[in-house]
Amino acid sequence: MIEILDRSDVDKARVTGALVGEILQTLRRRSTVGTNLLDIDRWTAEMIVAAGAESCYVDYAPSFGRGPFGHYICTGVNDAVLHGRPTDQVLADGDLLSLDLAISKDGIAADAAISFIVGDAGPAESVALIDATERALAAGIAVAAPGARIGDISHAIGTVLGDAGYSINTEFGGHGIGSTMHQDPHISNTGRPGRGYTLRPGLMLALEPWVMTDTARLITDSDGWTLRSATGCRTAHSEHTIAITDDGAEILTLPR
Ligand code: MF3
Ligand code: CO
Repeated sequence: MIEILDRSDVDKARVTGALVGEILQTLRRRSTVGTNLLDIDRWTAEMIVAAGAESCYVDYAPSFGRGPFGHYICTGVNDAVLHGRPTDQVLADGDLLSLDLAISKDGIAADAAISFIVGDAGPAESVALIDATERALAAGIAVAAPGARIGDISHAIGTVLGDAGYSINTEFGGHGIGSTMHQDPHISNTGRPGRGYTLRPGLMLALEPWVMTDTARLITDSDGWTLRSATGCRTAHSEHTIAITDDGAEILTLPR
């Protein structure tokens, strides 16, 4: 089902979105050399509760995972790219960390992800990966407006990732979002312009380009959740929730 939000729900989405952006920014600042992923998970839970919001993850048990996720944030270190379940792992200088957070407040969800290098050293390869996902996300947002099609967004994202030299995995991509985190339409990270659902005001979408350095193949960790690059190469992921407005798109998941 595709949900079209009314004005009051979009107002609520602005509140949830800003919270997601602020929590991610705080976590980014606190994620330094020596930080344990389980601390990041605990800080997230504390901030969600303090804000009067709810986790979209903790009880989430979709077919692509094993049982409920059981944590409050996805933490992907280096080769872990999607659905990274926090473990008792300590961050090292130069690690590429992806944080993906979805929460709900007043019945409206928002979802965003950031990738960054821990500490100050980081291979140029990591900088390029992160840069490609951020530019692809910006390109997808730039074409999102009433009358545009889902395929236009997919094409814009895929062009940036492809031009940067990455092969694109189509098993996981962006999605509609609203009263629940994962809704139709699916937004592949590559596609043909002019195809698919036509965007209209009140539609909320989570766009999420992600890439792996030298493969498009994923493997599932023994935890039944964490998806890693099949070759062990580094990966990155960037995501925002946007609302289609009368004249374009508004990014909801920026800190206020
Ligand atoms: N927020 C993720 C996405 O971007 C989904 C994570 S589901 C979880 O769509 F259960 F792993 F947390
Ligand atoms: Co998402």
